[in-house]
Amino acid sequence: MTIDFSAVVDQAIMSGLTYEQLCSQQPDLKITRNYFHDRRYRLHKRGEAVPYYGDERAAKAANEQARGAGVLTAPSFTTDKKDGDEVSWREWCDWMESGQELRHEASYSQDAAHIEFPDVTRPICVLPFSDTHMGAWSADVRAFRQMTEEILSEPDLYLLLVGDLAEMAIRLRGVGEVTNQMIPPELQMRFVESWLQEVEPHVLAAVWDNHATTREEGASGYSRMADMLKRKFIYSDGIQHLDVTVATQTYKLAVSHRFRGASMLDPTYAQKRYMRFEGVDREACIQGDTHVPGMSKYTDGSMTRVAINAGTLHTKSLYARRFFSLYSHPDFPCLQLFPDRHMIVPYWNLNEWRSATKGAGPQGD
Ligand SMILES: [Fe+2]
Ligand SMILES: [Fe+2]
Repeated sequence: MTIDFSAVVDQAIMSGLTYEQLCSQQPDLKITRNYFHDRRYRLHKRGEAVPYYGDERAAKAANEQARGAGVLTAPSFTTDKKDGDEVSWREWCDWMESGQELRHEASYSQDAAHIEFPDVTRPICVLPFSDTHMGAWSADVRAFRQMTEEILSEPDLYLLLVGDLAEMAIRLRGVGEVTNQMIPPELQMRFVESWLQEVEPHVLAAVWDNHATTREEGASGYSRMADMLKRKFIYSDGIQHLDVTVATQTYKLAVSHRFRGASMLDPTYAQKRYMRFEGVDREACIQGDTHVPGMSKYTDGSMTRVAINAGTLHTKSLYARRFFSLYSHPDFPCLQLFPDRHMIVPYWNLNEWRSATKGAGPQGD
């Protein structure tokens, strides 16, 4: 025979008894705690006013009853407790906008710049210079010295600093990479700083790079290299649109350490892609980073365009020799910009530029 205790349990629940109280009053019931709570749930679902039970709920019920009877009134009080709801999203916008304005005022970086040579009568030569990786055992220090002396001796020659001037092996990917530095990062910065002081009159502009700028930013949120460059020169943290006016002619350049995209057959593919899809008004696009020199002069619709990829002085890079090539090319293609007619003439390196414009120059660029 099955005995139905439900009516007894329901009555006990509605009278406010807990499971323990019911069991102690009627020890013969032999019901489980789950059964008791299941009955409570059913009563509740049926819409019955199931009384609170347990310490907290009993206290809450007692309070509510007391309030209802007018025994308790809500107290008035003061406190230093903050009320976050008093601040609206509009106030957050006010604060963030003023912060952004202040940050903008305190920054040095540009996305676009216009440089003018109003009085020149001769063509100027613009040399993208990058990927010297000074500080690495495997960088060609002798070539760096020689190129710098040549740059300093040419009054019509201007540099675009396109990144990776220092090795800055600070990503800690391996001991070999770190110990391939002849001088530590701090001294690499001192070296570059000293070099910049001398070549400064020849520098048109500079851009970010991965070896110093993004590695330093990744490690500390701050780049000493970027700080040095942006305080001295027109500098871009990303892609730079640089207009250069040479007397009557304005040339529209785009410069970055690296543009998106790559082709195994054309070291200037990424630059061409950028001008086709993004920098559609640019007529020359320049990058470094890949260490594979390249230059193209070509038609793109109605435009005649030039794409330049800088070479490297990291000529004994073990990484390069292991993973892509036995050959590194210390050639830095440059651009001759004319003042009296709209013409860009690319040359493979300074030696070829000098040979073409001033007669035979020294060998070994
Ligand atoms: Fe590089
Ligand atoms: Fe790079």
